[in-house]
Amino acid sequence: MAVQGAQARKRNAQLCGRRKWVRLWPEYLCSSEDDAAGRRSWVQLAIWLIWIGFQPRLKVRSNSLVIAVANNKGGVGKTSTAINLCCAFAGTRRKVLLIDLDPQGSATVSILRDRPSSFISSGNALIDGSSLVPCIKPYRTGKFDLIPASDDLTAFCIRADNEHGREQRLAEALRPLRQIYDVLIIDCPPALNLLTINALCAADELIIPTTCDYFAVEGLGSLMRLFESLKRRGLSRVHLMGIVRTIYTQGEPLSQKIAADLKSNMGTMLFNTIIPFCSQVSEAPSTGRPVILYDRTCIGSRAYLSLAGEILSRITARQADAQAIAAADAATATPLQGDAMPAPSRQAW
Ligand SMILES: Nc1ncnc2c1ncn2[C@@H]1O[C@H](COP(=O)(O)OP(=O)(O)OP(=O)(O)O)[C@@H](O)[C@H]1O
Ligand SMILES: [Mg+2]
Repeated sequence: MAVQGAQARKRNAQLCGRRKWVRLWPEYLCSSEDDAAGRRSWVQLAIWLIWIGFQPRLKVRSNSLVIAVANNKGGVGKTSTAINLCCAFAGTRRKVLLIDLDPQGSATVSILRDRPSSFISSGNALIDGSSLVPCIKPYRTGKFDLIPASDDLTAFCIRADNEHGREQRLAEALRPLRQIYDVLIIDCPPALNLLTINALCAADELIIPTTCDYFAVEGLGSLMRLFESLKRRGLSRVHLMGIVRTIYTQGEPLSQKIAADLKSNMGTMLFNTIIPFCSQVSEAPSTGRPVILYDRTCIGSRAYLSLAGEILSRITARQADAQAIAAADAATATPLQGDAMPAPSRQAW
C-alpha cells in the first residue's frame, strides 16, 4: 500500500509538476493507471457536485400527485389533455413528469416530434421491475419531463399477464419519482388493458376526457366498472376527480344535448370547463408543442388553462376537507386540554 501511495504521489507530481495549482488535485483521482482518465473523473465529479447543487428536481416532494388521464374510447382528447395539463402545471413552477403509457406514443411524438431512437424503454423497466429514472427525457420547451412510450409496453401486457402483482408494477416504479416530481400525469392507451389497470393502481386522481357523442358516453360505463372493481379489490385508491367534455362543437344540437345530459347525470363529477373544438389544438402536435405554447390566446389554450385552474381548486378543496375531517376525528378521539395545541396543518399542494 505504502509503495503504491508513493508511486501515486510520484505520478501526481509528474502530472502536476508544470502548474503548481494543479497539485491540489486529489491524489486518488490522479493516481489511476490512466492519469487523463483521473483528471476527467475529477472534473466530472466537480460538475456533478455543481449540478446537484443547482438541481431543483432533487428537492424531496412531500405532496406529489399522480393523475391518470384515461378513457377506453379512442380519439377523445386524452393525449391533448395530458400534455396541456403538464404544460399548464409546469407554468406554475411545479416539477412535472408526463408518462406516455400508450404504445402508440402520441404524446411522445407530439412533443419530441419523433420517438427517441436510443433510450431505455419504459416497457422493459416495467417488465423487469427496474428503475424508470433512466427513461426520463427532458422536454425543455414545456419545462417538464417525459417518459416516452415504447413498443415494449405491448410486450409488458403479454409477458406480465399471469404474473403476481402485475397491476402494481407502475405504482412501484413511480414511488421513487414521487420524491422528485410534484405532478405526474399518465397518458393512458384507449383500452381497458393491463397498462390502464396499472395507471389506475398508480394514480391518486383520475380524469376522464370524453367527447359529447353517443359512443363515447356509452363507453364510460366500462371504465367506471373497472375503476369500481379495482377499488373494491383493494388494488387502487384512485379518486375520480372529474369528467371533462372535449372537442366540443358549439351550436351542434347533439353535442349540446349530450353535454346537458352529462351535466344532469354527473353533477359535480363533471368539470365546468369544456374544451371546445379548436383547430390550433390539432395543429399544435405537428410543431412539437402543446397548444398552450403554440397559440396561447386561442380558445383551446384558454380552456386548458381554465381546466388546470379548476383541477388545482378541486385538489385544494379536497385537502381542506381531509384536514377538517382529520381535525374533527382528532378532537373526538382526544379532547383538547387547555394547553394542548392543534396539530400543524399539512402543506398545501
Ligand atoms: N379540442 C380539440 N379541438 C380539435 N381537435 C382536437 C382537440 N382535442 C384533440 N384534438 C385532435 O383530435 C385527435 C385525437 O386527440 P388525442 O390524440 O388527444 O385523443 P386520444 O384520446 O389521446 O386518442 P387515442 O385514444 O388515439 O390515444 C388528435 O388529432 C387531436 O389533435
Ligand atoms: Mg392518446
